[in-house]
Amino acid sequence: MKIILLGYMGVGKTSLSKKLSKKLEIPCFDLDEIIEKSESLSVSAIFKDKGEVYFRKIEHQLFKNFIEKEENYILSLGGGTPCYANNHLLLQNEDVTSIYLKASIGNLVEKLKNKREKRPLIKNLTEDELQEYIAKHLFDRNYYYQNSKLTVVVDGKSKKEIVKEILQLI
Ligand code: S3P
Repeated sequence: MKIILLGYMGVGKTSLSKKLSKKLEIPCFDLDEIIEKSESLSVSAIFKDKGEVYFRKIEHQLFKNFIEKEENYILSLGGGTPCYANNHLLLQNEDVTSIYLKASIGNLVEKLKNKREKRPLIKNLTEDELQEYIAKHLFDRNYYYQNSKLTVVVDGKSKKEIVKEILQLI
């Protein structure tokens, strides 16, 4: 079984993938962590020292390598992964179940307002700017997120409920 979790920053991709991994007894991986290990740098440091274009290049290479090689996994992507280098097309691969974790703008603002520091794209925004940024960004990214095979709305649901819903769908 190959499951890919995607969605906007802060939606809970990494923590949900850990919970699913326990339930399904298959290993979970996080693309940001894979990138950090490969570069021996944090995502923030890669953005700062090498720039976003470099990050997107590495992100694409490592994503492609991962899904070609690994068997039986849950992989959580970075929020932007589906939106660059035609990565969204890989979400349609026959043997992969890709799941878009969909959250409203208001929910994302709540989740992200105190978690900006480690996220280079929103790090320098004020709380007031965050709402408008997310609204625009989500609008742009929606097209790519919609390429996933399944969508689960996370608003108003506990992690446990979301995991249950995913288990029913797959
Ligand atoms: C990004 C999301 C981050 C990380 C990088 C860029 C994005 O991952 O890949 O900061 O473009 O949305 P999370 O979604 O895990 O925060």
